[in-house]
Amino acid sequence: MTVQQDKRPVLVACALPDAALAVLNDAFDVTVVTTPERPEPEQVVAMAQGKEILLLSVTLRLTRELIERLPDSIRGVATYSVGYEHVDMDACRNRGLAVFNTPDVLTDAVAEVGLLLLLGAARRAREAATLILDGQWTGWQPTQLNGVELAGKSLGIFGMGRIGRSIAHRARAFGMAIHYSNRRRLPPELEAGAHFHADPTSLLTTSDALMLACPASEETRYFLDTKRLALMKPGAIVANVSRGNVVVDDALIAALQTGRIRAAGLDVFDGEPRFDKRYLALPNVFMLPHIGSSTIETRVRMAESLRDGLLTWAGGATPSNRIDIKGG
Ligand code: DGY
Repeated sequence: MTVQQDKRPVLVACALPDAALAVLNDAFDVTVVTTPERPEPEQVVAMAQGKEILLLSVTLRLTRELIERLPDSIRGVATYSVGYEHVDMDACRNRGLAVFNTPDVLTDAVAEVGLLLLLGAARRAREAATLILDGQWTGWQPTQLNGVELAGKSLGIFGMGRIGRSIAHRARAFGMAIHYSNRRRLPPELEAGAHFHADPTSLLTTSDALMLACPASEETRYFLDTKRLALMKPGAIVANVSRGNVVVDDALIAALQTGRIRAAGLDVFDGEPRFDKRYLALPNVFMLPHIGSSTIETRVRMAESLRDGLLTWAGGATPSNRIDIKGG
């Protein structure tokens, strides 16, 4: 088939669900690296020969060194993720590589996990699950595992992008009052009645629950430190769907140990998949292994997003998911 001959050669350097791979296979001439779960730089360099696109995810750090070693045939990098802090963008710009990601399509999935984290933390889901799974449950008691309700509480969202707004939408349905802090104030139609805090300090002092939903950046790195945690209401809840390095683990663990912070819901960890093992000893931490975007619907949409972006780019236009690399 002629379409077959026109297909652009893509090297896939991450493990993808079959349904997502099928989307890419339909549109491109796909080769998957030999060990996609643990892509090795050497293997990627060797297998990228003659390929036009390198498709990877957060499981491979695309460092300057690796970028410089890529063959000249590579013209584009597509990351199967919305975050792209694992890609050295300066080095991509210097090499003239176009970079694509998957914004929008994982918003709902991550927002759902945001609510799961809030509920899990507020309603002591980890302790409750442990009690029943360990066979220790002896029957209902009015004193048993009393948590706090989300209804009537204030939710402070740090980072009111698509995911933050989607969490706000759901939290309103739970009866929460929405506050937010963001680099820029949103227009009224996106703010939807949420209260803007130009200074994150006032967000922290106002919120019964804090949701970290910001992108990872130099600005947000280790944002939630001892000083800022001390500003939060006693008994507040912290949830993180952003990146682990937005939180200083030492600070959060200390606040959870004393109960100054009632509970935390964490889907992301600094240095993951390694994480601070002290979290394991804290029953008031409801923790998940970075499953924010892990739905089959989202995984397929992520593949479609990259497929559409790459095909649009191949056709000479600029798709909305081509990352505008600043600087230089
Ligand atoms: C993303 O797409 O950025 C997810 O968090 C996976 O890292």
